[in-house]
Amino acid sequence: MTGLLQLLLLVSTALGSEPSRPACSKYDYEENVLERMIRMEFTVEQHLARLKNDNKRLSAVVDALMDQQELAERRLASLMEEVERNRITTLEMVVANSNNTLEQISAAVDNLKESTPTCHPETIAFYAYLGGNVNLNEHAVIMFNVEETDTRNSYNIHNGTFTAPVSGVYVLSITIYSGTNSYVGAEIIVNNDIKGEAFADAQEIGDTHSASATIVVQMTAGQYAYVRRGQSSLSVMWSHASRGRSSFSGWLLC
Ligand SMILES: *[C@@H]1O[C@H](CO)[C@@H](O)[C@H](O)[C@H]1NC(C)=O
Ligand SMILES: *[C@@H]1O[C@H](CO)[C@@H](O)[C@H](O)[C@H]1NC(C)=O
Repeated sequence: MTGLLQLLLLVSTALGSEPSRPACSKYDYEENVLERMIRMEFTVEQHLARLKNDNKRLSAVVDALMDQQELAERRLASLMEEVERNRITTLEMVVANSNNTLEQISAAVDNLKESTPTCHPETIAFYAYLGGNVNLNEHAVIMFNVEETDTRNSYNIHNGTFTAPVSGVYVLSITIYSGTNSYVGAEIIVNNDIKGEAFADAQEIGDTHSASATIVVQMTAGQYAYVRRGQSSLSVMWSHASRGRSSFSGWLLC
């Protein structure tokens, strides 16, 4: 196409670029015309030759492209055959190796269900306790520093705060232990209000005493609750692996 355009352009240039001389005689004029025609013929021949050449090159390129396509098609076909072969082999292996009846499989699934706790993904529940006895100033926030359960990471052991991830009704519960011959109190604070209290009083030497408080409270998302020390005779709050842990737990009821 470009070759043809070039040719046309050249023909018109050959015709148009001839300087127009004044024709002195009829002979002069004819000579001029003849010369022009010869020159044009020559140009046309040159460009025809070039076009032929271009055409040859073009068909060589087309041939090469077709070869490549054929090769690609052959490769694709063999690849698909291989995939099909693999699929059949895998299936055959599965069938051959599977020595399990449907009952065996469902028994295995049931077994798995029983051994895996299946909390709803939106379950909110935490349980944290004191890893050992702690000394607390009056009204100090109690950091229950060992977390056993926290499904939504809603209790922070570093600041002792439970933050409600969603709005709802929550159950919050504390259990506290007093040391020997002393009493200790704790308060559950929700939004700066005291919502629950527990008071443990061990009156004898060598004795310990526990107390607990459970509240059911409406919280909106982002509100928080924590436990702080209340009235106590000593600064120590007691927590012991075998005799009882002081703990804080909570869960979303609905
Ligand atoms: C197939 O199952 C039977 C009965 O459960 C068992 O005795 C046998 O060993 C199993 N075979 C294989 C190859 O697992
Ligand atoms: C406690 O820490 C958590 C997480 O870092 C934060 O979202 C929350 O606001 C903190 N609570 C208080 C009372 O500072």
